[in-house]
Amino acid sequence: MPEVLDLRSPGQQAAPISGLSASLARCPAQSPGLPATLFDRCWREYALFREHLFTDHTRQIASALAPALDAPISGGTGRHLVELGCGPGFYSRRLAARFPHLRITGIDLSAPLLDRAQRQADRSGLTNCSFLRADALSLADSPGQLDAVIASRFFLILAQPTQTLGAIFTALRPGGLCFIAEPTSALRASLPLLLMKMTERLARSPAPLERVPESRVFTGSGFQGLVESQPWASVRIWKDRRYHCAVCRKAA
Ligand SMILES: C[S@@+](CC[C@H](N)C(=O)[O-])C[C@H]1O[C@@H](n2cnc3c(N)ncnc32)[C@H](O)[C@@H]1O
Repeated sequence: MPEVLDLRSPGQQAAPISGLSASLARCPAQSPGLPATLFDRCWREYALFREHLFTDHTRQIASALAPALDAPISGGTGRHLVELGCGPGFYSRRLAARFPHLRITGIDLSAPLLDRAQRQADRSGLTNCSFLRADALSLADSPGQLDAVIASRFFLILAQPTQTLGAIFTALRPGGLCFIAEPTSALRASLPLLLMKMTERLARSPAPLERVPESRVFTGSGFQGLVESQPWASVRIWKDRRYHCAVCRKAA
């Protein structure tokens, strides 16, 4: 079973990422406080898209984040990487297999996607990779804790992208790195969500449709504006065939 926790369940104080198991109370897989989203209802379809259709940036992520992940550490529990809005945990699992010395946490709001991510990780015998149900904004409650953060296809669905990047910035330790990838085309950003909606309609699901997430597509300058909204020590931005990508480094 995944570590299904909610850092922001009503009346509960958000807890630091590093103190997860000790200080957080478990919550049911489907918290009554959170509406089921399209990702909860169509998790199978999303996992299929992620694993078989979308670009795989594992190689680029591994080389971009290496300076923060390979650097020696004195004491402590080892390097900690978070995949934010991890969905089915595609990158968490790939990187956990590639870097067994890392501790990797995939964070998402969708319990069914997290459940699938954990099952796949267990099936692959990965012991350095776990999944957590939490709101991305709760990273701000864990200042300076993380060595690296990945956010892939994440900002396109967020209502508060700048605030969320601010939470990532806060959670990174000095010298920590963040990798971001966002689709460059409106079609590629919205097609998976449209197909998920269609699947849902075809299945005549009684689920309410008003909560369907909207997606945005970033222009080059919009993406740059988002990335540069935080006071990074350095930023590298590039565009590949389908994505705006960035690696951002917090001052050491
Ligand atoms: C478009 S998917 C991206 C999944 C994955 N990162 C990828 O590369 O395909 C966005 C994910 O963000 C999750 N999500 C949406 N809002 C969130 C929030 N505030 N905090 C954490 N996860 C969130 C959704 O449940 C969904 O799994």
